[in-house]
Amino acid sequence: MKDQAASLRSLVSAPSGLDKIQRSGRSSKILTIASGKGGVGKSNFTLNFALALQTLGRKVLVFDADIGMANIDVLMGTSSPYNLYHLLYRQKSIQEIIQLGANGLPYIAGGSGMKELFSLSDRDLEFFAEQVEMVAQEMDYVIFDTGAGLSRENMKFIGAADECMIITTPEPTSITDAYALVKVMHGQENATPFRMIVNRVENEQESEQVADKIAGVAKRFLQTDIPLLGYVSEDPNVVKAVKRQVPYSLAYPHSKASRDIQRLALRYLAEPAVNEAGTLTGIRGFMKKWLRKTT
Ligand SMILES: Nc1ncnc2c1ncn2[C@@H]1O[C@H](COP(=O)(O)OP(=O)(O)OP(=O)(O)O)[C@@H](O)[C@H]1O
Ligand SMILES: [Mg+2]
Repeated sequence: MKDQAASLRSLVSAPSGLDKIQRSGRSSKILTIASGKGGVGKSNFTLNFALALQTLGRKVLVFDADIGMANIDVLMGTSSPYNLYHLLYRQKSIQEIIQLGANGLPYIAGGSGMKELFSLSDRDLEFFAEQVEMVAQEMDYVIFDTGAGLSRENMKFIGAADECMIITTPEPTSITDAYALVKVMHGQENATPFRMIVNRVENEQESEQVADKIAGVAKRFLQTDIPLLGYVSEDPNVVKAVKRQVPYSLAYPHSKASRDIQRLALRYLAEPAVNEAGTLTGIRGFMKKWLRKTT
């Protein structure tokens, strides 16, 4: 483990390594979508938010990092012949494991490779970092859709990102689980900034009430801010779209949920997350933070 960390650290700090590649291209922002409770709408949010950013002219890559049940494929009615596993075992290049989904949205299915990602050898992790870097320089955003809860894997994806969006619904169980997640992740060095999305709300006022509850407790007990980025309405078209295996923003572009996600994407671009001063962001920051706990 120590060797792996040392090697990657030199990769992220060497001017001839990632730095050189980074300067030659864009510096993509790495976003992780997370929730305390399962089934609150992360995967639907990830997909439709990514599509909304794409419509606004941004280059977005979605990475399905749900270890147990990969859903991004299913929500688009596509399937991936190759996933992270094929990359990690050098059977395919990163370009070959990127699939094009609805509206040509590029995505990577973690699949069976996700488990391997947490026990990579020194050389393999370096290879992975280089491959991801190659793609990230083409992108404005890389968005990780994670599974629910506080698994070691999710914490890694949250801790390494430039920003984490926490999805909750107005249900009390979802709210308390969202707070539990923030509490556990809070207090790390260069802590990932959090923003909240309230899904399945009756109206804007309900989203503000939910956000106030979480933000209030976080402020009081953790002295941290968790701003509300926006909300998505409860909308029967979401369920219909899931059944049709078409993202709701494409299947029902004028539905409430679609309008909400468009508004949310605009707001997201207008109000970028504030990272701690001096924090290394982008893929270099991601790899550096990824290694933080393995030393
Ligand atoms: N805005 C919404 N309006 C109505 N129903 C919704 C909305 N968002 C999500 N749902 C319902 O919730 C279900 C679960 O959504 P989704 O799969 O996106 O959740 P998830 O958080 O990714 O779940 P998991 O934790 O299992 O990964 C959807 O299939 C849909 O039926
Ligand atoms: Mg999901």
